[in-house]
Amino acid sequence: MSVWVYIASSLDGYIADSRGGIDWLTAYDPPQGEDYGFSEFMARIDAVVMGRKTFEQVLSFNSWPYTKPVFVLSSSLKTVPHGLSGKCRLISGSPRQVIDELSRMDFQHLYVDGGLTVQGFLESDLVDELIITRVPLLLGGGIPLFGRLSGPLRFEFMKTDAYPNGLQKTWYRRAR
Ligand SMILES: NC(=O)c1ccc[n+]([C@@H]2O[C@H](COP(=O)([O-])OP(=O)(O)OC[C@H]3O[C@@H](n4cnc5c(N)ncnc54)[C@H](OP(=O)(O)O)[C@@H]3O)[C@@H](O)[C@H]2O)c1
Repeated sequence: MSVWVYIASSLDGYIADSRGGIDWLTAYDPPQGEDYGFSEFMARIDAVVMGRKTFEQVLSFNSWPYTKPVFVLSSSLKTVPHGLSGKCRLISGSPRQVIDELSRMDFQHLYVDGGLTVQGFLESDLVDELIITRVPLLLGGGIPLFGRLSGPLRFEFMKTDAYPNGLQKTWYRRAR
């Protein structure tokens, strides 16, 4: 199983402002025909695992952005909205249990999304690649990408792509 994180962060390490907003990020929405490599990335994965709070943000988008099955981590949700039942389903358990369950379902390449969710997978040392798009602004506070770990995790730098609008996407691979 490979686990990838693909996420955008402010320079000071936040993925959303203190109200959970991402207007500062959507202000950088790509021009028609450019998607900053998102569709190429989606082609590499075979399922998405996201936290419930990220799922709620996605529900506010104009359209469902995923072409692969989505598993929503939640202990509080009982159902997903009508109309999305063929596209996403609920899952719970520790990151290890989630990986084991999805492996049994023959998924091999996971995209994990959401701050607390990513932090849980990192704490269990289950993330193989971090793909972080740095947005050139300081939010000064908000929802952090990273949290506490019981020990350091070393990653190898792979490459950085720079976009004309100032975004920089960097790939890191877990050095085990
Ligand atoms: N900048 C970006 O690229 C980017 C990407 C993704 C998200 N975001 C933003 O980040 C914010 C959401 O991040 P977040 O850190 O607040 O939350 P999150 O990780 O999206 O969701 C946290 C919730 O996921 C559930 N969860 C996580 N691990 C679980 C587990 N092992 N078992 C069961 N449930 C589990 C829990 O839901 P329950 O409380 O229901 O149990 C928990 O409250 C949103 O504002 C979103 O817009 C930004």
